[in-house]
Amino acid sequence: MSNLSSFSHQTVVILDFGGQTAMLIARRVREAHVFCEILPWHTPLADIKKRSPIGIIFSGGPAFVTDEGAPAVDPALYDLGVPILGICYGCQLLAHQLAGRVEVGTVREYGRTNLRLTSAGQGSALWKNIDGSSICWMSHTSYVAQLPAGFAAHATTDNCPSAAFGDDARRLYGVQFHPEVTHTACGRQLLHNFMYDICHATGDWDMSHVATEIIADLKAKIGDKPVLCALSGGVDSSVTATLVEKAVGDQLTCVFVDTGLLRSGEVSEVVDAFSASSRARLITADASDQFLSALAGVTDPEAKRKIIGELFIRTFEAEAKKIGHVNFFVQGTIYPDVIESGSPTSARIKSHHNVGGLPEVIDFDDIVEPLRSLFKDEVRALGLELGLPENLVYRQPFPGPGLAIRIIGDITRDKLDILRAADKIFRDEVAAAGLHRELSQYFAVLTNLRSVGVMGDERTYDYVLALRAVITTDFMTAQAAHLPYELLEKVAGRIVNEVKHINRIVYEVTSKPPSTIEWE
Ligand code: XMP
Repeated sequence: MSNLSSFSHQTVVILDFGGQTAMLIARRVREAHVFCEILPWHTPLADIKKRSPIGIIFSGGPAFVTDEGAPAVDPALYDLGVPILGICYGCQLLAHQLAGRVEVGTVREYGRTNLRLTSAGQGSALWKNIDGSSICWMSHTSYVAQLPAGFAAHATTDNCPSAAFGDDARRLYGVQFHPEVTHTACGRQLLHNFMYDICHATGDWDMSHVATEIIADLKAKIGDKPVLCALSGGVDSSVTATLVEKAVGDQLTCVFVDTGLLRSGEVSEVVDAFSASSRARLITADASDQFLSALAGVTDPEAKRKIIGELFIRTFEAEAKKIGHVNFFVQGTIYPDVIESGSPTSARIKSHHNVGGLPEVIDFDDIVEPLRSLFKDEVRALGLELGLPENLVYRQPFPGPGLAIRIIGDITRDKLDILRAADKIFRDEVAAAGLHRELSQYFAVLTNLRSVGVMGDERTYDYVLALRAVITTDFMTAQAAHLPYELLEKVAGRIVNEVKHINRIVYEVTSKPPSTIEWE
């Protein structure tokens, strides 16, 4: 698989100990224009060294360092001369492995906490431009009770004598709090200091260089062989197709699959937008009968995703056969798809159709995923850099499994028609209210719940439809949008009047986490 780790950027390695915020640490590092990669904590030392990291960050994690089998690193990592910043579990591990002492405290420190710098902290480059007293975000019971030799406490809280500590000579640091969350006032500055003042980052992570490097990498990998690119019409696959087209020109054929699970008007919208912005050949494959018959009666969300993932690839294989032997299959997988589909250290949330949903044996020599290391906002920046039109770059995402994961329970053609009609009304009204640019994603979900209503003196027993609108930049976390009540009322009125079999509308107000954006 093609990814960016072989490129020439300075790299910070984040070792993931199973904490919920490893991804957030990565976001913060990249926002500071430094490339980083999240690796499982048990990655062999040789693989870490291969990346020549300028710095290493240990994430938090749920374990206790002295438990049997608790995650730990090869102690030789501390002797590489590479700066290390341990966060939460990571700081306790660093102290423990260097012969300090970690104890279980009597008080659990959780949430906003006052942090005070010591004079050693004030003298360290890690704390440059940071106030002597500030608010940080804590989540721990155990704490570092005794520092290893050579370390000094950099900051304290009421319950934590070594809330931050470091050894400036060896450039090893630990913070018990979470600098990656926004509640920690000095967090961004601290991570910036670690990268720029301790690791000597130059800030070479920049989208214009990334485009040039990906194109060169694709050229080298694909050579003069034919390639097929999966196109969904969204920003990820459009950016992918553009990169491949720039790399290998007319060796590329794009395939857009009509799964029968698309929204109203989607096929012509995608075909028109693509033809207007790309010179690549595009085939639309109508596989709706295959998808709908394979999904008949299937209710489990993961089962739906697996069936769809398999059928997508089989459809691409069938299209490839019509061309002859096609060596490479390119798809627009991005970093959150990879992480959320499950890694050795993080739980599987959902099998994204293009990652965990792929069958094991496929009829291509290799899969190429040039955006596999990028976050959504980075892909958008890359799209603009490549000259794609703004309406395509900011098109709201539509998941590969389509309406299948917005119909709870089994999928039928009738339910698809109901959902399509309702979703179109919602989308049209949001656009009419001029809110489509402000919302990151908005859609309707057909629940499997039916309830009693009354229409024209008649009793009805019909579906409950849910509306969802979220605001997010990276789609890893999201907030429910505060839609104007008048808009919701208008949409609800139109849907129950115009779409048969819906008699009740609800608006979802949960954030991600604990919900996800899609319902399945
Ligand atoms: P969740 O529901 O995981 O969604 O909070 C995060 C973002 O990913 C989209 N999504 C998918 N996109 N294939 C895709 O191409 C998938 O299998 C898939 N599942 C979720 C979702 O629409 C949201 O933008």
